[in-house]
Amino acid sequence: MEKPRLPRLTYNWISSLGAFVAISMALVIIVMLIINFTMEQTSAYFGIFLYMVLPGILIGGLLLIPIGMYRQWRRWKRGEELSANRWPLVDLNRPGHRNATIIFVVGTVLFLTISAVGSYQAFHYSESVQFCGETCHDVMEPQYTAYQQSPHARVACVECHVGTGASWYAKSKLSGAYQVYAVMADVFPRPIPTPIADLRPARETCEECHWPEKTYGAEMRSFLHHQYDDSSSIWTTEMLIKTDTGEPHKGQKAGIHWHINPDIQIEYIARDRGRQDIPWVRVTDKTTGTVTLYENEDEPLETAQLDSLEKRVMDCIDCHNRPSHVYRSPDFAVDRAIQSGFIDASLPAIKRLAVEAMAKEYATKDEARTGIASSITEFYQESGLLNDPEKRKAVEQSISGVQLAYSQNIFPEMKVQWSAYPVNIGHFNDIGCMRCHSGTHKSSAGAVITHDCNACHTITAQGMPGQMMRDSTGLGLEFKHPVDIDEAWREMGCYECHSGVQP
Ligand code: HEC
Ligand code: HEC
Ligand code: HEC
Ligand code: HEC
Ligand code: HEC
Ligand code: HEC
Repeated sequence: MEKPRLPRLTYNWISSLGAFVAISMALVIIVMLIINFTMEQTSAYFGIFLYMVLPGILIGGLLLIPIGMYRQWRRWKRGEELSANRWPLVDLNRPGHRNATIIFVVGTVLFLTISAVGSYQAFHYSESVQFCGETCHDVMEPQYTAYQQSPHARVACVECHVGTGASWYAKSKLSGAYQVYAVMADVFPRPIPTPIADLRPARETCEECHWPEKTYGAEMRSFLHHQYDDSSSIWTTEMLIKTDTGEPHKGQKAGIHWHINPDIQIEYIARDRGRQDIPWVRVTDKTTGTVTLYENEDEPLETAQLDSLEKRVMDCIDCHNRPSHVYRSPDFAVDRAIQSGFIDASLPAIKRLAVEAMAKEYATKDEARTGIASSITEFYQESGLLNDPEKRKAVEQSISGVQLAYSQNIFPEMKVQWSAYPVNIGHFNDIGCMRCHSGTHKSSAGAVITHDCNACHTITAQGMPGQMMRDSTGLGLEFKHPVDIDEAWREMGCYECHSGVQP
């Protein structure tokens, strides 16, 4: 028996298949590389697909070649006669061969083009907002709805949730595979826990569009509230929020974005997964090397926890944790609906009624719709207001306004609502800044993380329309609480009484 030469070992179907797969993939990769280099911007998934998935299949194909050869070689060792399968002899002078060749070549080119375009479309779809937000519709409905109303409604989900590079691909696909299973088997948690630990690092994400070196200056904001009295009267606070980044090397620590100034590093330890309880904060000034440790003197961290818990470097997400999924509280949502004319403020006690109707517990969206309508109708029925056809129309319109506010912010099936996810900006409904700034965090030298009302903002005006108190000194007004609660606002946090419904 003649010893087979190497190429003859490749005359088997496994090796041929491998060669076919490898060559096709190589061609697809070339086409996609051209797309990659000619397009202005491709996404995180594109590179992953191009540099990981396709080469993976290519290598798989290449591996099939020696596997087929090895099997052939074993058969030869066993003394079997190797089949004389050789490459087909093609004679282009014969019309039959010629036609077959043309069909084969044209077909292959078509097939490769279609699969290149197809794989491009497939990955393109898998990174689209539609895929993330709509394919899993019921599960992602809350996040998707809130996202569409956020300032980031045009930023793709994957921009914030998936980073670039191989490790992110593996990470997101592994957890993605589990998530598909969890949805199909209906074993996912409601509400979906915040992936704070797995989120793409904020400095990578947010700084693609916002950058800390930019001096933020200060921002004028007006906070408008309707009160819970019978006339739903307005109370406004106007203030200058000091969002400056500051310049620590000049000894200036002027503003809020000082925390993310590149010359500063703030680390903290949280006792809970949601990072709401922060007893330990360490500041490093990189220009001078000064390190200051602040501890919550009321409830200091235990020594064992110091070693076991994560030390996290503060970044954007520690304050802006809801940049795109904001679930408004009934208090806030009703104020906004009144302001935009969806709810008629002239109806007696409408703020109170609307907030009550919205905040009740309902099992489903439909139950909420009917519940909101019946509780508001019932109230005005009793007061006889509905006999006036004009008022009746205003009531019906306001009910739709409350139902709309509900559907945009509360998702009973997923157990998602304002109280499910704390907001870290400010300190009105959630502890937010006061996790560190409550005045209880002290250094061993006696320094305190400031609780001064004017450190973060100055009130320029406050009060009811027509009776606004205005600041004429430039130093800001002292806060005035709209209803008399004595000095309670000094000793307690706003969030201890205001939780998104009537306090
Ligand atoms: C601007 C950045 C950004 C975009 C865009 C974005 N997210 Fe998020 N997402 C976040 C952050 C930050 C959190 C974590 C919130 C926290 O820590 O409280 C989060 C949390 C989530 C959660 C966990 C539950 C929750 O509400 O905390 C889900 C689910 C989610 N996002 C889905 C989506 C989907 C679907 C899209 C696209 C329709 C999307 N995200 C777009 C930043 C973003
Ligand atoms: C792809 C670009 C892009 C990325 C990434 C991005 N943003 Fe934005 N962001 C914008 C744009 C554009 C606006 C202005 C929207 C407007 O004026 O309505 C904005 C607005 C904001 C605002 C002001 C919101 C308001 O109510 O006016 C904040 C705060 C913010 N972004 C924080 C973040 C944080 C935190 C991240 C990271 C999780 C982030 N952004 C990621 C583009 C981006
Ligand atoms: C210490 C908390 C904190 C941190 C950390 C923080 N911010 Fe802010 N940021 C605020 C506050 C407070 C405002 C004022 C607006 C408000 O109250 O909603 C603001 C406003 C903004 C605005 C809109 C206003 C403007 O002047 O442009 C953008 C954009 C923004 N931040 C981006 C970022 C980015 C990006 C990061 C991370 C690099 C970051 N912030 C880190 C607290 C913070
Ligand atoms: C993880 C803890 C932590 C959180 C959360 C936090 N800060 Fe700070 N903040 C600090 C520390 C530490 C300092 C520096 C204290 C010092 O060295 O004097 C500081 C300083 C400041 C300063 C400068 C104060 C001065 O003396 O001039 C401002 C303004 C400020 N923070 C605003 C905010 C705002 C607004 C929020 C919420 C959106 C917030 N901080 C949330 C830890 C925190
Ligand atoms: C560490 C920084 C910081 C300190 C200290 C601080 N605030 Fe604020 N406060 C904020 C930020 C940031 C916001 C804006 C929140 C937002 O954008 O929703 C805010 C919002 C407010 C609002 C408007 C809330 C609303 O929704 O109507 C009032 C009023 C207010 N603060 C009063 C006070 C008073 C009174 C004190 C002193 C007891 C105080 N603040 C201390 C950071 C601070
Ligand atoms: C001791 C509890 C308590 C504290 C602390 C407190 N409030 Fe109030 N607040 C109330 C009560 C009670 C009302 C009146 C509600 C009503 O009309 O039924 C009220 C009403 C208000 C209103 C009128 C609109 C509305 O939503 O009811 C505003 C605005 C307000 N508070 C802001 C603040 C701010 C800002 C802080 C923190 C600086 C604060 N409050 C701290 C109890 C408190």
